[in-house]
Amino acid sequence: PKRVRVHHLREAKERGQKITMLTAYDAPTARIFDEAGIDLLLVGDSIGNTMLGHETTIPVTVDELIPAVRAVTRSVRRSLVVADLPFGSYEAGPQQALETGVRFFKEANAHAVKLEGGKRCAAQIRALSDAGIPVVGHLGFTPQSENMLGGKRVQGRGDAAAATLSEDALAIQEAGAVAVVLEMVPSHVAARVTEILEIPTIGIGAGPECDGQVLVWLDMAGMGDWSPRFAKQYAQVGRLLGEAARAYADDVRSGGFPDAAHSFES
Ligand code: KIV
Ligand code: NA
Repeated sequence: PKRVRVHHLREAKERGQKITMLTAYDAPTARIFDEAGIDLLLVGDSIGNTMLGHETTIPVTVDELIPAVRAVTRSVRRSLVVADLPFGSYEAGPQQALETGVRFFKEANAHAVKLEGGKRCAAQIRALSDAGIPVVGHLGFTPQSENMLGGKRVQGRGDAAAATLSEDALAIQEAGAVAVVLEMVPSHVAARVTEILEIPTIGIGAGPECDGQVLVWLDMAGMGDWSPRFAKQYAQVGRLLGEAARAYADDVRSGGFPDAAHSFES
């Protein structure tokens, strides 16, 4: 299959073809999602809550993310792999952002990076883009700023907040971003941002009019113990896995496993 490239994202927007994105944190899920035709795989700092047992994304480090990004990039043939820049790895300025982006490219073979913030990150986005590192922006509810935003809350409500969101979106497009994630934004506000931007918007809790959609895979597949209201469950993988583990344990305890077919007789 032909690799998804950044220019395909804008082409998809122009054609009105929806862009699909899921998170992935390891080789087996990356392989499955790649084969399922998911366009973009995000090695998100959501690895902190979903895989590493933290309560937030704040403690996640570049050193923790790099092996995950490497596992995902090694396992895809078509999907474009986006590495999240974790909290504390880009806020200091363009120099710091560039150093972090370069690590993800050299050490983990990432295809793009993502960072949170609008105008305040324009210089970082410009520096990364100029160096050949495509950047996906992230606006609306930005989990790394949860403490400043007053918790997990819908952003861009009201005319003033919606106008600020549009200005931030235009600023990061101008700085060179190739796409922007909109998280927990009223549908009509996300629709407006989608309309004014040339680059695609990828929504999560941002309504149906974004150019694409992203979900955390554990929420999408029913694997986590909690999932947000905006996430839709397409399977109950957690339940299936529990059933498999119980069946295996029963089989071992009853002497049904291993049988001759799963043993070496000579
Ligand atoms: O880290 C993540 O999973 C994300 C998505 C929810 C957009 O940033
Ligand atoms: Na993230």
